[in-house]
Amino acid sequence: MEYRGYDSAGIAVVDRSAGEARLAGAKKAGKLANLEKELDVRPLPASTTGLGHTRWATHGGPTDGNAHPHFSAPADGVYTDTAGKVAVIHNGIIENFARLKADLVADGVTFLSETDTEVVAHLLARDFAEAGDGDLGAAMRRVVNRLQGAFTLVAVHADAPDVVVGARRNSPLVIGVGEGEAFLASDVSAFIAYTREAIEMGQDQVAEVYRDGSVKITTFDGEQVQGKRFHVSWDASAAEKGGYDWFMQKEIAEQPQAVADTLLGRVNADGKLVLDEMRLSEEELRAITKIIVVACGTAYHAGLIAKYAIEHWTRIPVEVELAGEFRYRDPILTRDTLVIAISQSGETMDTLMAIRHAREQHSRVLAICNTNGSTIPRESDAVVYTHGGPEIGVASTKAFLTQLTACYLVGLYLAQVRGVKFNDEVAEVLTQLSDSPAAIAETLNRMDPVRKLARSMVGARTVLFLGRHVGYPMALEGALKLKELAYIHAEGFAAGELKHGPIALIEQDLPVVVVVPSPKRPLLHDKIVSNIQEVRARGAKTIVIAEDGDEAVAPYADFLFHVPELPILLQPLVATIPLQVFAAELADALGYDVDQPRNLAKSVTVE
Ligand code: F6R
Repeated sequence: MEYRGYDSAGIAVVDRSAGEARLAGAKKAGKLANLEKELDVRPLPASTTGLGHTRWATHGGPTDGNAHPHFSAPADGVYTDTAGKVAVIHNGIIENFARLKADLVADGVTFLSETDTEVVAHLLARDFAEAGDGDLGAAMRRVVNRLQGAFTLVAVHADAPDVVVGARRNSPLVIGVGEGEAFLASDVSAFIAYTREAIEMGQDQVAEVYRDGSVKITTFDGEQVQGKRFHVSWDASAAEKGGYDWFMQKEIAEQPQAVADTLLGRVNADGKLVLDEMRLSEEELRAITKIIVVACGTAYHAGLIAKYAIEHWTRIPVEVELAGEFRYRDPILTRDTLVIAISQSGETMDTLMAIRHAREQHSRVLAICNTNGSTIPRESDAVVYTHGGPEIGVASTKAFLTQLTACYLVGLYLAQVRGVKFNDEVAEVLTQLSDSPAAIAETLNRMDPVRKLARSMVGARTVLFLGRHVGYPMALEGALKLKELAYIHAEGFAAGELKHGPIALIEQDLPVVVVVPSPKRPLLHDKIVSNIQEVRARGAKTIVIAEDGDEAVAPYADFLFHVPELPILLQPLVATIPLQVFAAELADALGYDVDQPRNLAKSVTVE
């Protein structure tokens, strides 16, 4: 799970090696490797019940003490033998922790960490002891009813040695059901090496998983519920590096397959497009008068590109909004508004809150998501899954291309349902889309010069990215990749906007990456060629990505990369790839961890 947080890690197990059960554990600041080293020196006893955590800090800095698990009674910072009866791990934020902590401190409890999580360990230990019935699930239900905020909690107790208990509110938790074993995890990649049978948990539910593989799910009020079972199609090797240096390298290489898989099985015997889980009738879709796409980061950039395609194909107005801004500006939402939420993880809190707001206003929500069993699809009216497989590298690559693919499918589907465009056009674009994996594969074959160029640019302090039309969101995406991976200041601009201010940034040898639209769109193409000349005249070093056969840009390009020809709306499927490779290679040349850039985490489950 390290990709979900990597500033510290810890583990606790129930130790039955010496008669009475007790807890043993270890925790370490820094990457998981630090904990592994610690466990080599001080191995834990063999055990059948335990929990582990990798952290992305919210309350309290990334120190050994603030790492999870938190124990109910640690002594002197030594977490073996005297670790107390309860160990707890937590994702999210407990908003009322200060008040709960003050009450516990007043009762004489000593806190060893600065985290909000530690209150849960103490509350659970006390409640379990006071009830005296040995029922850790019941203790968890009582404790969570006292908590405010968002949380996934998982706990073990030395006196309930055969059960692991988990609880969730607005933060992910999924159950894995093996043979004679069971798992709880934030996402399925944690257990797909052991089982691909999983159970979705709803909000405000507690799960008890037992050593014999049995599972019990209840609401916070104790009512027993059946979770929705599902089979995970990802295979275990998909979450391994498989000979590549980094996951990101592997995931970039997987893009032709990921796009092909996302397109697979979408057309029925009558040649009509079909989507995964469509709980909206064609009549409801015909009534849509406005679309708002909500997403964060790279998924937001996919949304910006989707706007060009969906508006063109359907003539429905499309707004694209950063999910974290959406609900705070009182957006105009009606029953006839379709909100499209794009999220690889399906757990991004900003996006989740945006769709909840939309549904409260009675708008319809369609999710584009890569993760089966995650919260955003669960809370949406319709879902289109991107079949990208697990994305472990923190920087999104194949998720982006598959999100684009799914957006195209949604646009074409709406066009088909509403009959705006003749079916011929839908069929034509579908054919072009089905050809795109080959074009993506061809682009990947051409990346050596991009790698070489990136490695020659370790001295760059700032890099600008320019584009027009769908090239503009691509410029934003190129800049985001470079910022997050190589920690280089980068900005993306609409090329036409440059002369309204940012051109002042251009100085001698400043690298400027330009995504050029097809010469088949001469108006656009000629404008951007002028923009390239404008920056070059001011000393910029121009790195130009253009379509095969476009030689008109050659005189103004210090570096020119050609990508295969695709219709302009689909061009991001190929032209984004050099931007991904450029950022990853430059980050590696600078000595940075490409898969785990600093300060980040794969799935951002806090607002
Ligand atoms: C950037 C990146 C992030 C995510 C964003 C949304 O490379 O990976 O910007 O795109 O955090 O994540 P999801 O798609 O999981 O909602």
